[in-house]
Amino acid sequence: MCGIVGYYGKREVSPLLIKGLSKLEYRGYDSAGVAILSNDGDLTITKCKGRLANLEEKLEENPIHGHVGIGHTRWATHGQPSTVNSHPHSNEKGTISIVHNGIIENYIHLREWLIAEGYKFNSETDTEVIPHLIDYYYDGDLLSALMHATAKMEGSYAIGVVSTYEPDKVVAVRKDSPLIVGLGKEENFIASDIPAVLSETRDVYLLKNNEFVVMDQDGVRLYDAEGRRIEKEIYHVTWDADAAEKGGYEHFMMKEIHEQPKVIKDTMTSRIVLDQPINLDNITISKEQIEKLSKIYIVACGTAYHAGVVGKYAIEKLARISVEVDIASEFKHRDPIIDENTLMIVVSQSGETADTLSAMRLAKSRGARVIAVTNVVGSTVSREADDILYTWAGPEIAVASTKAYVTQLIAMYTIALYFAQNKGTLTTEQLEAYKKDMLELPEKAEEVLKNKEEIQKFASKTYMNKDMFFLGRGLDYAVAMEGSLKLKEISYIHSEAYAGGELKHGPIALMEDGTIVITIATQEELFDKMVSNIKEVTARGAKVFAFAPEGHTEIEEAVNAVTYIPKVNELFSPVIAIIPLQLFSYYVSVQKGCDVDKPRNLAKSVTVE
Ligand code: F6R
Repeated sequence: MCGIVGYYGKREVSPLLIKGLSKLEYRGYDSAGVAILSNDGDLTITKCKGRLANLEEKLEENPIHGHVGIGHTRWATHGQPSTVNSHPHSNEKGTISIVHNGIIENYIHLREWLIAEGYKFNSETDTEVIPHLIDYYYDGDLLSALMHATAKMEGSYAIGVVSTYEPDKVVAVRKDSPLIVGLGKEENFIASDIPAVLSETRDVYLLKNNEFVVMDQDGVRLYDAEGRRIEKEIYHVTWDADAAEKGGYEHFMMKEIHEQPKVIKDTMTSRIVLDQPINLDNITISKEQIEKLSKIYIVACGTAYHAGVVGKYAIEKLARISVEVDIASEFKHRDPIIDENTLMIVVSQSGETADTLSAMRLAKSRGARVIAVTNVVGSTVSREADDILYTWAGPEIAVASTKAYVTQLIAMYTIALYFAQNKGTLTTEQLEAYKKDMLELPEKAEEVLKNKEEIQKFASKTYMNKDMFFLGRGLDYAVAMEGSLKLKEISYIHSEAYAGGELKHGPIALMEDGTIVITIATQEELFDKMVSNIKEVTARGAKVFAFAPEGHTEIEEAVNAVTYIPKVNELFSPVIAIIPLQLFSYYVSVQKGCDVDKPRNLAKSVTVE
């Protein structure tokens, strides 16, 4: 959470910082601010509560001219959203300003110590210790002061610093919060994420933990924590800048929903090819290691966890290995049984989710091998895992995950088939048949997207409701969970997902006249049972909106409305069935006038536990 940017160059810094921050608003948007070294040598801070637009307005009223600066967009952790708690934070003299993404876990201790040393604090934030620490250690060298300050800090941070003491410079560092350096011509940038610099440069350094940056008139220099110079390969961004723009859609979420056929295809490309063994570029786990696996844990949060639930079905069915799916924040607190024959698959779009990282580190410390399924090249998860399977979803900007989810599903199926191929649990014919069915998914996803009007109508009939329920069995239950999460996060409607069979063990007590129930019934073997569940709720007055595969018209007499979805191999149906549910949530959110791309209280990347 929180996005940071920084610039050193010859151009006016203020618009560049705002532009960069606008691409990072998905990381937090409850306040924003900039610190600019103005042309007359002053360090001027402008910050305010609320969206970036408020900051922009303030800067229009009182422009600051300068060529060096840092900026921040905040998602509050310590201290409520307010102007005083927003970043940048400064030392008392106003000579050092910093922006920070992450959490300083020992800030109480540091704060007490600094207060005893005579420092005064204004905000409720953990961050405010940083400028005071730098001030304490400053002895003529800003980089060295930052190094000393970070040596005292526990927790996670990406920090950008500017100071009147060394006005022609930006220094920065990262540990467990992302930071990249954008490399321009006679100008350079720091940012939490690539989209913030993409309109200016495609060449970036992906920083690792405890790497420090100095940007000044001599360019960019990188250092390790001992102050030794380090060299780094330039990462050239190949994805299109348009991938991080709305491209004519009203919202990023709608654009990203429409990108799904393409990203499903991209994530399969070169991996799932007919008549060729499945080829997983960055996976080095051997056939012998796969054969020895006694247990797989799939660990993730939120939407990624829901992809993991589908992964369990797929891996157990195809590769016959026992799989447990865990919510990352719970995993490490239950003393899980892990040994060298345990594999952990971590699923994380951002690759920076703190709970997921902790679970991964625990598993590694106990000898498990880790495969990371992530969307962000160079993310912490990708660096720390033994093997990586990238989802090629491209940048996902809307806070509610859509295209990343379907690519995570594709990754889950690909891993399941890869393990089946190695373990010999499927014949070549069976493997080829599954691959063929998978390769049809992009086209089927296109078909669903043609059916938007029906879903929009359905949304307009239901958006006023306060509660909704999602029901499914088997893989459809996994889809129901994801559909329910989408609805609650972007429309603020209370919703729950239940396994159809579990209904009569309690939740049916909630059914009454007019209750909205959304059912998903794509699994042939469970179809009749699902229809029985539908009858159970309609008998109690519920209104049922069903999603069923084409051809199952008999469902019409049991429900109030049905939307048919193209038939696919039912193991892969979550990839297709989730799309109408995403669209449904989207339309409900729009009808309710909610902020689709930036729902309240949420942030795209949750880098705190
Ligand atoms: C929901 C959503 C979140 C994320 C979760 C994990 O739409 O986006 O539930 O899925 O915060 O994030 P990653 O995948 O980045 O670890």
